[in-house]
Amino acid sequence: MVTNSSALIFWKTESLTNATVSYGLNTSLLESESNTTLDTQHRIQLDGLNIDSKYYYRVTTNGTESETYHFRTAPPDGGEFKMIIIGDNRPHSVITEQPEEYKQFVQMIAAEEPHIIIHSGDCVLDVSDNHEANLLSWEAFNNVTDGMGHYAPIYAAIGNHDTGSKTGARLLEYFFDAFEQYGEPSTYYSFDYAGVHITVLDTEELGYEGRIVGDQYDWMVNDLESSNREMKFVVAHRPMYPLTHIGDSLDSVPAERDALQQIFEDHNVSLFICGHDHLYNRMTVNGVVHIISGGGGGPLYSTPWAVGFYHYMSSNVSQSEVSLAAISLSGTTRDSYRLPYEGPIEIFLRAIANTSTHQIGTMPEIYFSARPSQKYFSWDSGGNQTDLTGIPDTNGLHTLDVYANDSEDVWSSAYFEFTAVGEVITTTTTTGTGNGMDPLLIFGSLAVAGVVVVLIVVFWHKRGK
Ligand SMILES: [Fe+2]
Repeated sequence: MVTNSSALIFWKTESLTNATVSYGLNTSLLESESNTTLDTQHRIQLDGLNIDSKYYYRVTTNGTESETYHFRTAPPDGGEFKMIIIGDNRPHSVITEQPEEYKQFVQMIAAEEPHIIIHSGDCVLDVSDNHEANLLSWEAFNNVTDGMGHYAPIYAAIGNHDTGSKTGARLLEYFFDAFEQYGEPSTYYSFDYAGVHITVLDTEELGYEGRIVGDQYDWMVNDLESSNREMKFVVAHRPMYPLTHIGDSLDSVPAERDALQQIFEDHNVSLFICGHDHLYNRMTVNGVVHIISGGGGGPLYSTPWAVGFYHYMSSNVSQSEVSLAAISLSGTTRDSYRLPYEGPIEIFLRAIANTSTHQIGTMPEIYFSARPSQKYFSWDSGGNQTDLTGIPDTNGLHTLDVYANDSEDVWSSAYFEFTAVGEVITTTTTTGTGNGMDPLLIFGSLAVAGVVVVLIVVFWHKRGK
């Protein structure tokens, strides 16, 4: 754990040993700190370090030396730092086999020499009531993750696979072991780094999965309210606008999700970082950029519009500017973005992979990067409507025009084409309402400002007549 003037180096040994950290601005490691009290857990604090500097270090324990690693101290408030985001690396089926993709990303991330790393959760396949198996499973995770953890502090949000919730209890000791924290360990916490406020939430509270409620909710509101930082990020495992885990993410109670979004808007949260959906998605909702980054190595969710790819996020952050890039296994940038965004309103279609178990509402969902002063929707070049209603009920090609006006009276527009190829299923009920669900399979292409055409597939349901 590293600040702009200190670092806490933490390691464990199997037997009682003494502990020394040798460190310095070059590999001569001319300075050192020691603890002669024999222990198995070693915490050596290095103080008086130079700001925004690369330090090399090595630990020695009863005469056994580690390799030489390095880390970077934080820049001053407002200074630029490199932040990595990765998550959902959990094994596919064997608890001790961390995915090869994750191993490769860990090496790529270490080579980037980041200041800090954010892990958005789901480190391991399972936490069961078998203690020995849990130890093996987390050891496999830690052994791989150390490949970057030796070089930068990792701040993690807990994922559903990390909690032991399947046992009916919360088994957090392994998570807390893997991610050493200052003070009393907590699954939700916040910190300031170089003038940026970062709040980490726990979407996995037993019985309240996919919700932020009770003490945590009160804490979060107070945390965001009391921070005067201009740049704020929130990290959690489950998304607010999931593409596949629909209805069991932070949208499990939609009114609560909407309230959370409002709190983030009110408190100037720039970025909401999450995983859980094993894919990549970026969408701005009223000024809050929602990044789903769940491509760290776990089994990808196949999505028809091809956002299921392995990746991590590389980000340069300062208190006034953020650049974000989704980096694939081959090292190519699959998406990039810069904040603050200063163009006309961006219009997003939330591409939703509906399945038989995860159904969304009756309409395509359109989001705006800022609240429009005016907005209009037009189906099939028909009349403008101020709210999106009236999904066409015939198969074939349909078009949707969306217009949004920003506070400076600049209009944006987006044009969507959908081809409905579904079959209308009429059901009869005895309640007299006579409504059945009519699955429509809709293929479309989305043109964004004439720059890129993205092929998407959207499924949605509409009510029968
Ligand atoms: Fe998850």
